[in-house]
Amino acid sequence: MLPKKKQKQTTAFHHRLTHLFPRMPLRRLLLTPTLSTVKTILLLLSAAFIVYTLFFNSSFHSPSLLCSRSTLSPTTRRHIVFAIASSSNFWSRRKPYVRLWYNRNSTRAFAFVDRIAPDFASADPSVPPVIVSNDTSRFPYTFRGGLRSAIRVARVVKEIVERNEQDVRWYVFGDDDTLFFVDNLVKTLGKYDHERWYYIGSNSESYGQNLKNSFDMAFGGGGFAISHSLARVLAGVLDSCLTRYGHLYGSDARIWSCLVELGVGLTHEPGFHQVDMRGNLFGLLSAHALSPIITLHHLDAMDPIFPNMNNTQALHHLFEAVNVDPGRIFQQIVCYDRSHSLTISVSWGFAIQVFEGNRLLPDLLSLQRTFMSWRRAATIDANQYLFNIREYPKDPCKRNIFYMQNLRTSKNNALTNYTRKMVTDCPASGAIKNLTQIRVFSQKLELDVEEMKAPRRQCCDIISSSKESMLLEIRQCGVEELISMYF
Ligand SMILES: *[C@@H]1O[C@H](CO)[C@@H](O)[C@H](O)[C@H]1NC(C)=O
Ligand SMILES: *[C@@H]1O[C@H](CO)[C@@H](O)[C@H](O)[C@H]1NC(C)=O
Ligand SMILES: *[C@@H]1O[C@H](CO)[C@@H](O)[C@H](O)[C@H]1NC(C)=O
Ligand SMILES: *[C@@H]1O[C@H](CO)[C@@H](O)[C@H](O)[C@H]1NC(C)=O
Ligand SMILES: *[C@@H]1O[C@H](CO)[C@@H](O)[C@H](O)[C@H]1NC(C)=O
Repeated sequence: MLPKKKQKQTTAFHHRLTHLFPRMPLRRLLLTPTLSTVKTILLLLSAAFIVYTLFFNSSFHSPSLLCSRSTLSPTTRRHIVFAIASSSNFWSRRKPYVRLWYNRNSTRAFAFVDRIAPDFASADPSVPPVIVSNDTSRFPYTFRGGLRSAIRVARVVKEIVERNEQDVRWYVFGDDDTLFFVDNLVKTLGKYDHERWYYIGSNSESYGQNLKNSFDMAFGGGGFAISHSLARVLAGVLDSCLTRYGHLYGSDARIWSCLVELGVGLTHEPGFHQVDMRGNLFGLLSAHALSPIITLHHLDAMDPIFPNMNNTQALHHLFEAVNVDPGRIFQQIVCYDRSHSLTISVSWGFAIQVFEGNRLLPDLLSLQRTFMSWRRAATIDANQYLFNIREYPKDPCKRNIFYMQNLRTSKNNALTNYTRKMVTDCPASGAIKNLTQIRVFSQKLELDVEEMKAPRRQCCDIISSSKESMLLEIRQCGVEELISMYF
């Protein structure tokens, strides 16, 4: 007797054999005394070859697939259609955020509202056209204290697909207070085959929010993308799901539930940011993941990211750098000044932080707790995040932050200039007391699809340094180069 498992495998193999040679008795296919040994060996060899080519030799099929994939043109801005969830109450107030990323010459987008407000009357080409959502009063909504508009917003998925826009590879969804970094979104989606079913986004940073919804759900305000092939199918079945998920809070949970019923899971891209945090986002923005930033959400709840500006001005200022080198924005590069024993952490296009002494790179990748939790009456859950936290120096004299002041460009090069946020009444001390300006020289970061799939942090040299200023250069690291102060 064979062990049960072995027996099963053998039986399965026999099935395959008899399937290939249906009219030959199994006994004859296997070694039987009635056939000559040579014949049997030949027969078994050819059977094995057929089984091998049919079931194991995938290159047998793949050349045509490879061709069709590689002849596809690269994904561009024009292949994406954005559907922005807004409302008559908010649209006018949120337009300044949308203007930052929308350009009607290159971006296809529509804003969905509940009804037309009087001030929408004249067409405004600086923002996407407005569409009034269809009536959803027939669907149930039973979440206590929630908003029925969740159904309307979930149904945007169906209504945008049914517009039948041409040549769409991806539908991208977000709120009117979601800031998109469109070029980075395009590059990220370019990694995936839009003919397959993809649901791409990110969950919340907050442990508590994920606990309430799902760790595997794309949070709507952070934005998410659905490949056109999946979006078509989802649009067809969504109404059925909406009748079943009246008990859920948000629109994103409705979409997610329906996708789960279709058997689809979330593809996590860390560049999407729900930002379930409020206040000072320095900690988040100075230690971004290696993947490019794709969105930021909850723009009204964040402090202006640059000093002495209001929120809109600060984001405009950021976009001066975004428009020069989108792939590099917020990318964290660490330089070591060995002669003065300084560690310099750059978040390109935003800010630089200088530490006295040797800080190891792994420690600098955790987020300084500069922000507050989304829920003001914070529970323990709300204070826990899905990333590592380190403390932000309580003493402002120890923070040593330089904010991007201006930038100059020529061809593919950029020289960004960061000036120190001066804090009055700090005791005179240390090598960086009089350091007021840091300039950073870099080349435009243009990664192809393959490089996007396996990004590597770049390296940095100190070109010159005086008591008052420093010039850094960002470059590719050598093959075995380590980012550390000492070797
Ligand atoms: C769009 O293109 C037109 C024609 O090329 C140009 O005049 C206009 O300035 C562009 N608008 C924007 C917002 O880029
Ligand atoms: C939305 O309403 C319009 C006009 O009433 C109708 O033509 C369209 O089919 C509706 N779409 C959906 C998805 O219900
Ligand atoms: C921000 O500042 C600009 C320029 O001073 C001003 O036009 C705008 O209204 C301000 N925005 C807010 C929200 O205060
Ligand atoms: C950097 O900005 C400061 C403050 O605006 C300015 O004084 C300095 O000249 C700038 N440096 C360069 C190289 O642009
Ligand atoms: C910083 O600058 C001040 C005034 O320019 C000077 O008196 C002081 O010696 C400098 N400190 C260091 C550490 O270089």
